[in-house]
Amino acid sequence: MAASAEAEVQIDLAPRWIHGKNGAEAAPAVLEDKILQIRQAIFEDYAALCAIDAVAAASPERRDRIRDWLASSRCYIAAGKDGVPVAYGVLTHDFFEQAFIQIVMVRREYLRQGFGAAMVSYLQSIARGSKLFSSTNLSNGPMQMLFAKSGFRISGYIDNLDDGDPEIIFYHPAG
Ligand SMILES: CC(C)(COP(=O)(O)OP(=O)(O)OC[C@H]1O[C@@H](n2cnc3c(N)ncnc32)[C@H](O)[C@@H]1OP(=O)(O)O)[C@@H](O)C(=O)NCCC(=O)NCCS
Repeated sequence: MAASAEAEVQIDLAPRWIHGKNGAEAAPAVLEDKILQIRQAIFEDYAALCAIDAVAAASPERRDRIRDWLASSRCYIAAGKDGVPVAYGVLTHDFFEQAFIQIVMVRREYLRQGFGAAMVSYLQSIARGSKLFSSTNLSNGPMQMLFAKSGFRISGYIDNLDDGDPEIIFYHPAG
């Protein structure tokens, strides 16, 4: 994308989503200003998800996880106003039976344009229950900053997953 086009992208960090007629998770949603569209990812999106994911090219394990996420119908893909897939996110409800954002990933060329925050906001809008959890490594400053800006609070940490890099649990309260 040209630098001039990038400058045109504007995303409200607290957007209101317009969901499709089917209501919940399977329906596509657009931001009110229609700049960004998010929908449930399907198997045909596999290559696009791998292109977004900075780890997938070198990691068969990540590619397997992407296939699993697609099979579970819990994966969502975002396209910018030019239709190019720019981000994906995964929402589950298996973390102590609570809504949990497994991952948010923005394509490298589209970082710092609000897409990560928009994906978090979208997943929040379709999450079941009043609590939303997520996590990231202590070393992942950008994701921690995104959580803070999106109103999440720290809710503890887990040692011994990645050596020397605790997993910080984040929580978004109801409302
Ligand atoms: C973390 C990530 C999803 C952020 O996506 P993004 O689209 O670049 O983030 P946004 O543009 O929506 O940023 C929203 C806010 O988050 C914070 N933020 C995002 N990236 C940041 C960075 N590199 N440094 C500091 N703060 C950052 C800022 O507060 C930012 O608001 P601002 O731009 O007004 O200052 C992206 O860096 C990414 O895909 N990283 C690799 C995958 C990953 O680590 N995912 C998290 C594991 S679940």
